[in-house]
Amino acid sequence: MAAFALVVFVFPGACLARHVNQDCGSVFCGSLNISSPFRLKNQPPHCGHRRYEVECDKNNRTTLVLRGGKFLVEEIFYENYTMLVVDAGLDMDDCNSLPLSSAYYYYSYCEKPIQLYPYDNLSLMYVVNCTKPIESALYISASRCRVNSNASSYFYFLDIRTPPSDLSQSFTLEAEVPIRVHNISGMSTLAIYNKLSQGVFLEWRPEYYLKEIR
Ligand SMILES: *[C@@H]1O[C@H](CO)[C@@H](O)[C@H](O)[C@H]1NC(C)=O
Ligand SMILES: *[C@@H]1O[C@H](CO)[C@@H](O)[C@H](O)[C@H]1NC(C)=O
Ligand SMILES: *[C@@H]1O[C@H](CO)[C@@H](O)[C@H](O)[C@H]1NC(C)=O
Ligand SMILES: *[C@@H]1O[C@H](CO)[C@@H](O)[C@H](O)[C@H]1NC(C)=O
Ligand SMILES: *[C@@H]1O[C@H](CO)[C@@H](O)[C@H](O)[C@H]1NC(C)=O
Ligand SMILES: *[C@@H]1O[C@H](CO)[C@@H](O)[C@H](O)[C@H]1NC(C)=O
Ligand SMILES: *[C@@H]1O[C@H](CO)[C@@H](O)[C@H](O)[C@H]1NC(C)=O
Repeated sequence: MAAFALVVFVFPGACLARHVNQDCGSVFCGSLNISSPFRLKNQPPHCGHRRYEVECDKNNRTTLVLRGGKFLVEEIFYENYTMLVVDAGLDMDDCNSLPLSSAYYYYSYCEKPIQLYPYDNLSLMYVVNCTKPIESALYISASRCRVNSNASSYFYFLDIRTPPSDLSQSFTLEAEVPIRVHNISGMSTLAIYNKLSQGVFLEWRPEYYLKEIR
């Protein structure tokens, strides 16, 4: 009996690769100016930086895919390396839509070096998916539709700093959603959705791509 050891070396190519990155000037998606370090998916490969790739959906919506989800880019502030984004899955006109895109305060070099911009009035909340309703002021309903009494899923927002209290219940954490308030405690479901629709700031670190330019 022969034993084969299959050794696969996986090089973190995306991290090591040095691309020739050029500033190809600006392109527009709708009225949004896309300039270096950002690039549109359909631009020639040498333009901008691959890790700062955005897409132009329906010819005027700029979308950014991060590890935790997909975001609509509302504005890019090149002067302070920040951008204002909204969860791309959030539809204010569809009461069934839930915010399910997560964003984080950190990133690793191999990923897109874009992270949440930390400011005072920003907090993170879990979107919790429960099999039964939860009666607790800490859990704010995430459902804007009339909740069916036969529903098999109940969605709530829970501040991530709050330890889950009712552990007898089975639930899953679906997302870690940023919101521009200090504390969601006491807010209504609609007030939370209105805040979410105002978006959050992400920041990028220029030192990461300046290093790659040669
Ligand atoms: C787009 O933004 C870049 C970076 O701020 C700026 O240099 C450029 O002039 C802008 N282009 C247009 C057409 O506004
Ligand atoms: C995008 O284009 C559609 C139709 O082409 C229009 O209805 C919509 O208002 C535009 N959105 C933005 C943000 O420009
Ligand atoms: C970045 O600059 C823009 C325009 O000057 C400003 O509106 C925005 O608040 C700034 N972003 C942050 C996170 O301070
Ligand atoms: C944070 O929010 C509180 C209450 O909404 C407000 O009073 C305070 O001025 C905000 N702080 C900042 C830095 O925006
Ligand atoms: C919520 O959980 C149920 C199972 O309990 C699952 O079928 C459903 O897809 C989940 N919903 C979301 C939005 O993840
Ligand atoms: C709940 O389920 C029962 C039995 O399956 C059904 O008769 C009833 O119409 C359902 N109610 C709703 C609001 O869907
Ligand atoms: C949020 O507000 C509630 C009620 O005011 C308070 O009990 C809780 O400690 C606050 N949480 C944080 C993390 O500030």
